[in-house]
Amino acid sequence: MRRKIAILGSGNVATFLAKALRKANNTVTQVYSRNFEHANALASKIGADPIDQIAHIRDEADMDVYIIAVSDDAIADVAAQLKIENKIVVHTSGATPIDVLQATSGNYGVLYPYQSLRIGDLIDVSNMCMFFDGSNEDTTLLLEELAFEITSYALQVNDTERLQYHLAAVFANNFTNHLFALAEKMLQDQGLDFENLRPIILQTAQNAMIKSPAQNQTGPAIRGDEQTMARHLELLQGNDALIKIYSDMSASIKNFVPNPEETETEETQE
Ligand SMILES: NC(=O)c1ccc[n+]([C@@H]2O[C@H](COP(=O)([O-])OP(=O)(O)OC[C@H]3O[C@@H](n4cnc5c(N)ncnc54)[C@H](OP(=O)(O)O)[C@@H]3O)[C@@H](O)[C@H]2O)c1
Repeated sequence: MRRKIAILGSGNVATFLAKALRKANNTVTQVYSRNFEHANALASKIGADPIDQIAHIRDEADMDVYIIAVSDDAIADVAAQLKIENKIVVHTSGATPIDVLQATSGNYGVLYPYQSLRIGDLIDVSNMCMFFDGSNEDTTLLLEELAFEITSYALQVNDTERLQYHLAAVFANNFTNHLFALAEKMLQDQGLDFENLRPIILQTAQNAMIKSPAQNQTGPAIRGDEQTMARHLELLQGNDALIKIYSDMSASIKNFVPNPEETETEETQE
């Protein structure tokens, strides 16, 4: 269905949603950014009007949804400036409660793409999960429709569940990527090639797709190879930050207690 949507924000998520919703035959009428060049960069790609004043957001009767895709800490401020009567307004944050929007409209919600999104990256939406939630049945229904226009998998979750999913993604995605960056730097610092590590990273991700990660752990910490760990710590001498990460992660691996169902072997599973 062709809806009229305004997007507030011009960053990673604003760009992803604007393009995905347009591809699904919706019309993005306006893109707001406090920086006109940023608004224009996105708006010009999707045939929308760029604006740098929230007061210039249109509130015509046929406008359907206002999407606030700005940094978490700016959502409340942007929402407070938005005058849209009772139209549907959503934010896109995993960690921000839904009711940060309740003073803006009686019809509010969340549309949270559960994916790492960066402008320029090729995003595979086929298996991506979209989380949605609404302040009432009609709003929730419309957000569910929008979510399913973007991906084939969408789920309604409440604030607590969404925050928990967000936290899990910080561990599984943000922290692992930071560890990749640290590994890349330590190899580069020694004139060695990160390219040789890439197959391990890929294998680890592939294993996590088909088995519980609790069953996939390898390495000196789980084997109890103390001499190997001492050699690694020797290499890290002088870098207290990396020694702390290495020691904390190794202790976490050693002390990890998986849930009972994750310890089943493949043979014991049906
Ligand atoms: N990136 C992801 O992987 C991802 C995934 C799911 C959900 N999210 C959520 O989506 C939202 C946007 O994230 P993002 O990654 O798109 O961020 P981003 O790329 O850093 O873009 C942030 C946007 O917020 C605007 N902004 C920041 N402070 C502002 C303020 N005080 N007033 C008005 N606008 C302000 C920026 O405007 P300027 O252009 O003027 O700087 C920019 O358009 C966040 O709630 C985030 O938690 C992100």
